[in-house]
Amino acid sequence: MPSTFYVTTPIYYVNADPHIGHAYTTIVADVLTRFHVLAGEETYFLTGTDEHGDKIVAAAERAGQSPKDYADLVSGRFRALWPRLNIHYNHFIRTTDERHQETVRTILNRVKDNGDIYFSDYAGLYCFGCERFYTERELVDGKCPDHRTAPEMIREANYFFRMSKYQEWLIRHIQDHPDFIRPERYRNEVLAFLREPLEDLCISRPKSRLSWGITLPFDEDFVTYVWFDALINYLSGLEYPDGPLFKRFWPVCQHLVAKDILKPHGIYWPCMLKSAGIEPYQHLNVHGYWNLDEGKISKSVGNVIKPLDLVEVYGLDAFRYFLLREMVFGLDAEFSQDALVGRINADLANDLGNLVSRSLTMFEKFFKGELPEPPAAQEWDDELKDQALKLIDIYEGYMRELAFHKALMAVWDVIGRVNKYIDATAPWVLAKTSRQRLAAVMFHIRETLRIVSALIWPFMPASAEKMQEQLGLPRKGPEFTLALVRQWGKEKPVKPVTRAPALFPRVEDKREGQEGGKKAVDVQEKEVPLVSLEEFQRLDLRLGTILRAEAIPKSKKLLKLTVDIGEERTVVAGIAEHYAPETLAGRQVVIVANLQPAKLMGVESRGMVLAAGGEGGVHLIVPDTHVPSGSKVR
Ligand code: MSP
Repeated sequence: MPSTFYVTTPIYYVNADPHIGHAYTTIVADVLTRFHVLAGEETYFLTGTDEHGDKIVAAAERAGQSPKDYADLVSGRFRALWPRLNIHYNHFIRTTDERHQETVRTILNRVKDNGDIYFSDYAGLYCFGCERFYTERELVDGKCPDHRTAPEMIREANYFFRMSKYQEWLIRHIQDHPDFIRPERYRNEVLAFLREPLEDLCISRPKSRLSWGITLPFDEDFVTYVWFDALINYLSGLEYPDGPLFKRFWPVCQHLVAKDILKPHGIYWPCMLKSAGIEPYQHLNVHGYWNLDEGKISKSVGNVIKPLDLVEVYGLDAFRYFLLREMVFGLDAEFSQDALVGRINADLANDLGNLVSRSLTMFEKFFKGELPEPPAAQEWDDELKDQALKLIDIYEGYMRELAFHKALMAVWDVIGRVNKYIDATAPWVLAKTSRQRLAAVMFHIRETLRIVSALIWPFMPASAEKMQEQLGLPRKGPEFTLALVRQWGKEKPVKPVTRAPALFPRVEDKREGQEGGKKAVDVQEKEVPLVSLEEFQRLDLRLGTILRAEAIPKSKKLLKLTVDIGEERTVVAGIAEHYAPETLAGRQVVIVANLQPAKLMGVESRGMVLAAGGEGGVHLIVPDTHVPSGSKVR
């Protein structure tokens, strides 16, 4: 029987549309699942939506809909997004599913039968954003640390879960299973929290205050607290208690969450499981935040980036690659389109893309795509082979410890190695001197590319499969296993190697679009509204005189201009296809002088040149007579 793998994402609240943060966790789950498919394991991947509680009622009210209609709508948006990101889950769970509600009632009854639920009067500080009570000690300057709002004092009778009873057990469990919560910093955070006495958890809300939830099986007047309801999705998604899925996959359950929900997953959930007589999950994998300008990307902050906007501009696989390569799992990462473009051009277009296309060209040119049986290996060959085979183990180790960026770096080391191997063996010279030797070299290149294509498949499935197709391999994507990948030279091509369009086109045009072509993706889509006079006057438009103009290496569109606008400014302009640099010195232009600086092709641009663009080309806007540099344009 193959070994098994079960991964879950958080179930996302339906009070907001999916953004890049949700996409990251769900893509990580997809990458991990695909890796375990490669490892020959049987996999199960669960995601879904969290639909009860105050937050959803409030959002539905704002939208003028019933909570259920609203939940249907937003849940549908999550469900529709995932396939467009090439995310293949096994089951999409909703907490409004009847089956899930049944499981919640089953667990509540079990916990109650175990003597772990009691009724009590309680007064406490409640944050409506988090939907939970806070202790004084958890607040920062008297405010909820997440929402930065003061919680309200609420007094009501409720049901409580005797969580405190499991504190000692949980501490011991975490100590005995060092990778129960990982990376270590989050394990330490949970242990630090457990050094203080654990309070019992309020697990109900009176219907008089909130009716949108699962009615307690033992009291009609209360609904279940949304977190107690939501966490149970990980069981109902496996058809607990009787389904075969539960038996098969629960023992290998791995949760993926960001650090915002460490406490419910690291503390409430294991205690709930223990009380219900269910083994704890195997791993809680915790990642950091995607930030923008150092603040967490989130709906409440309003700095949301929509995944599909990025995919449309940069391509899906490039987006997936970037997320996994840029973030060190466990730490925060800063999102920037400059970094995204940098990665695409350097890692994808240059390193991998060029390697594939130069190799395919050589196969076609030297052997019409058909590779002869390889003769004996020589100098360089074994070294490349060793490194390529070792890569598989290194990669596997990193993937199992969720060090995705290291796994990718290791693959890219080998990609760099092949590029050097080609330069060192110079196949274009061998083509004239020794076809035998040429065949051996090309064979080593193909084998290494075969390995690379399989290892990048979890991250960039479509590109990997394209590469496998181009290499004429008999197998694609999930048909590979690591065991097969390890078999050097056994996989015979089933058709000739074919030359094909670049796997990853460079994206400089899109970035240069700040002054010309396509616009870079906006943070949150904005309408183009009318501007008031005051708004217009915030623009600092100035007359400038160009002092120098230079081409920017490797850019077709950009010129670097040094402009006198009363002070000297460097401005990058997308006019290289319309103006030769040597014709520009001394010309006058209009500059937006207070535009936020931006780095384009490595050059910091502090301002923008105004030009009229259209089918007739691009024309600089110039005054009808010479005007002193720095004059205001109004
Ligand atoms: N409904 C709860 C989870 C219940 S699970 C039993 C919830 N939902 S949420 O919609 O707020 O999703 C939170 C999760 O979304 C985070 O844990 C993380 O997986 C993802 N992210 C949301 N914003 C994020 C970032 N800015 N950065 C990284 N991940 C982020 O909490």
